[in-house]
Order: sequence, then C-alpha cells, then structure tokens
Amino acid sequence: MKNKKLILSIILFMVSFFPGHLQAQTVVRSRPEQHRPLIHFSPKANWINDPNGMVYHNGIYHLFFQYHPYSTVWGPMHWGHATSRDMIKWKEEPIAIYPDSIGTIFSGSAVLDKNNTSGFGEKGQAPLVAIFTHHDAEGEKAGRNDFQTQSLAYSNDNGKTWTKYEGNPVLKNPGIKDFRDPKVMWYEPQKKWIMTLATKDIITFYSSPDLKNWSKESEFGESRGAHGGVWECPDLIAFDDNGKSRWVLIVNLNPGGPNGGSGTQYFIGDFDGKTFSSPQQKTMWLDYGPDNYAGVTWSNTGSRKILLGWMSNWLYANLVPTVKWRSALTIPRELKLRKVGDELLVVSEPVSELSGIKGKPVMMQNMALAATGRNIMVPGIPSIPCAIKISMDAIKDFSLVLSNDLKEEVRIGYDRSRNEYFIDRTRSGKVDFQKDFAAKHYAPRFSKDQKMKMTLVIDVSSVELFADDGATVMTAIFFPNQPFDKLRLQSTEKAMIKQLEYSALKK
Ligand code: FRU
Repeated sequence: MKNKKLILSIILFMVSFFPGHLQAQTVVRSRPEQHRPLIHFSPKANWINDPNGMVYHNGIYHLFFQYHPYSTVWGPMHWGHATSRDMIKWKEEPIAIYPDSIGTIFSGSAVLDKNNTSGFGEKGQAPLVAIFTHHDAEGEKAGRNDFQTQSLAYSNDNGKTWTKYEGNPVLKNPGIKDFRDPKVMWYEPQKKWIMTLATKDIITFYSSPDLKNWSKESEFGESRGAHGGVWECPDLIAFDDNGKSRWVLIVNLNPGGPNGGSGTQYFIGDFDGKTFSSPQQKTMWLDYGPDNYAGVTWSNTGSRKILLGWMSNWLYANLVPTVKWRSALTIPRELKLRKVGDELLVVSEPVSELSGIKGKPVMMQNMALAATGRNIMVPGIPSIPCAIKISMDAIKDFSLVLSNDLKEEVRIGYDRSRNEYFIDRTRSGKVDFQKDFAAKHYAPRFSKDQKMKMTLVIDVSSVELFADDGATVMTAIFFPNQPFDKLRLQSTEKAMIKQLEYSALKK
C-alpha cells in the first residue's frame, strides 16, 4: 500500500513537472514538410540562398536563385528559376544555369538589353542577359586569389533557356578573393551599363557599352558604413524625386549585421555615372531582424523598386530544422525614400500585390489591453498565414504573442523604455540547432509620431514586421514543434488598440 502511494505520488510529481515546453524539447524530429511556408517562395526540394537575376519581362516576374539541386546544404551553385505574374504565386521552373568548366554559378543580376547592345538578340528581339559570378572552387582550394570572375548568359525565349557567352569570363579578377555578385543597370544619361560589384569590403563600379567589355570607374566604401565582414550582393538604385534622381547603394554584409551575422546596410547619395558619393555618416540598415539577407531589387520595373531577400542568416542557414528543402525568400517589398522625423530613410512595405491573396478583413476597434493578455477571438481566427495591421493612438508597451499548446511562443512588439521594436524567439520551439538562434532582437523606432502602426506578415515559420509605414523593419524565422495557432495581445501598461485589421492569406 505504502509502495503504491509512493509510486502514485512519483507519477503525479512527474506529470506536474513535465509541462508543455519539456515535451516540446523531446519532439525534435521534423516531418518532411513541417515548417513549409505557405505564402513565401521556397523550392520544392533542396537548398536555396540568395535571390538572383530578378527581372520583369513581358508581364512575368522572373526570379532566379542560388540553388543546390542535390542537397539541403550549400554546395555547387546553380541558378534555380521561378516565375510569377504577381511576385506572390510562384511557379518553379527547370534550373536555368548550370556550373561549367569555369566554375559554379554564384549570385548576379539580369537585364533586358532593350537596344541589343550585346548583340545577343535574335530576330529583332531584345535579349535577356544574366551577369553572374563564376566561382572556381578548385582555384579557391589551391589558394589562388583570382577564383571569382564575372560572366554572361543570354536568353532569347523569355528566360526559359540560357546560353553562356563563349567569351566568358567578361571581367577577370585582379587578385581580390571576394570579387562577386554583379548588379547591372542601364545608365541612360551616358548610355552605358553600370556594374556594381562587391570587392572584399568595398564596392567597385565598372561600366560597359555592350555588357562584354568592362572598365573600372571608381570605388566606394573604405571607412564608410559597417565592415564587420565581407560586402556581398550590392545594388545601386535611383529613386525619382520630382524629376531628379536620388541614389541609394544597398550593400549586404556578412558577418556584421545589426543583430548578428548577415545584414543589409544602405547609403543614400548621388551617382554621376562614374562615382557614388554619400554624405551619410550613420550606418543605416534596411531590416533589423536576423533573417533578411542578400536582398536586391528587380530590374525593369520602372519607377517601382522592389526588393526580395533570402529569409535566413549565414549563422545558421545550413542548420535550420527543415528536411526536404532549406530556406525561403521574404515577401517582396516596395522600397521608398521617405523623411521620417528629421532623417531620410529607405522604408519598405510588402508589395501591394499581397492583397491579391487576402481574405475578407476582420476589423476590431478600441480593444483595451492588459498584461495578462487578450486572445484574439473572432471566428476563423487565429489562422496562419495572415496579415495583421495594428494602430494605436498612444505610444505604449505592446506585444503580440504567437503560441501553441506546447507553450512555445514568438513575441513581436514594442518596448517603450528602450523606444525599440523587438521580436523574441527565445522560446519558439526548435532553437538549439545553433547557439545564436534563441534570441530577442531589437530595432530602433525612427518615427516621432505619437501614433503607432504595425503591419505583420505571418507565415508558418516567419514573421515580417513593418512598423510606422515601413520605417522600422524586422524579419525573423522560427520553428515551433507544433504550428502556432493562438494569437494574444498584451501590454504591461494600460493600452488601447485603436484598430486591428486581420486578414487571412491564402495562395
Ligand atoms: C551571399 C553569397 C554571395 C555569393 C553566394 C554564394 O549570400 O555569399 O556573395 O555569390 O552567396 O552562394
């Protein structure tokens, strides 16, 4: 009898001491499609990193991407391919560019050569031309310093098939180990192509009349901005400011990002066809979250500047717990230059095309919040993926908590004592595949407005926060053992949500 009682109390003791979060830690194996994003692009199988060669042509948005078709970890790079009419619903196409005797196919860009300056066009049609880095892994292994060169491929069938130029490489390496990721654009005032190239931890600009012959124009970046790692995947874009061009140089950096590992900085300045100059002293970041890297913009979209990034970080990209594929891309974001307070910023917001997959919005008004939380309880809610817009009439502590029955959670919010937005994924489920993953990341609030606005795009394994009309942006991925299916709003002080708009997203 005594023994029975003892056993019973041991069992009761164990049950009370093994709550959800411990069970969660024991369920570590992913099912093949677990964590698969539903509204973000991810390849059907295997490894993806940077988006490449994005070009709009004949009503189709082309997306190429760093792809390893034989494994879920990084390896010999190919250009994968996907197409879309709205940048949201993607069709994965056959691999566009394969490695060859010069090397594997690293990141780069694609342009529509409207005037057929390259001579690649056939039957009076303008060709699409891809400009990419050839990476010679053997050369790298042998300790050479010229193993990255720039090459061309062209397509005369709307991006379906690609032919490599027989004169490759078109830009040889002068002896710089990190010499890659050409982003090419047409500079109309001087009728020439400009290549923005990442060269170690600065940018080198080249120009060409025909995409085949390149001359060095200038360099930018020594002792400017952040230099915690190598500069990669740059982009030079012009915004129209009342008929005048305002130039922005986007520079990806790894490591040395604002929240550890990979990050994207930008410089606002001027470009005269030869030199980029910028009065900017402060380091500015496009996204303060840990998971938006290698983002560059679409080519041939007129005055629209649309950026797409890789939703991961080199700190743990090869280790994230998915089985069949590894990684996804962000929601495409429209970039604008805007004065926020007294600072000129590059702000980003999800492209308007996202509304094409929005269900009927559910509106809630004047909701008082308490520290204990308020579950959003409206028929059909919560369901993920979704877009949530929140506005508050006063600046208050605030968090939105995504959670599940295992008590795993991601918190997204604003901390008034620090005047910073944050995403906290410390208890988000599978976190121990790499030591830096379980973290709370912060981002400055730039807006001086006494009202607060947040737009969140939430998918199965990611959240993208666009605060104050895109002035502060954060992107973070997460891997709960069970899907998040609860949404709770909280504040540590008396706060009121003026309006919350919830829309389910479905492709
Ligand atoms: C950025 C990057 C690029 C390179 C590619 C290789 O994530 O390192 O600089 O071209 O990935 O896959």
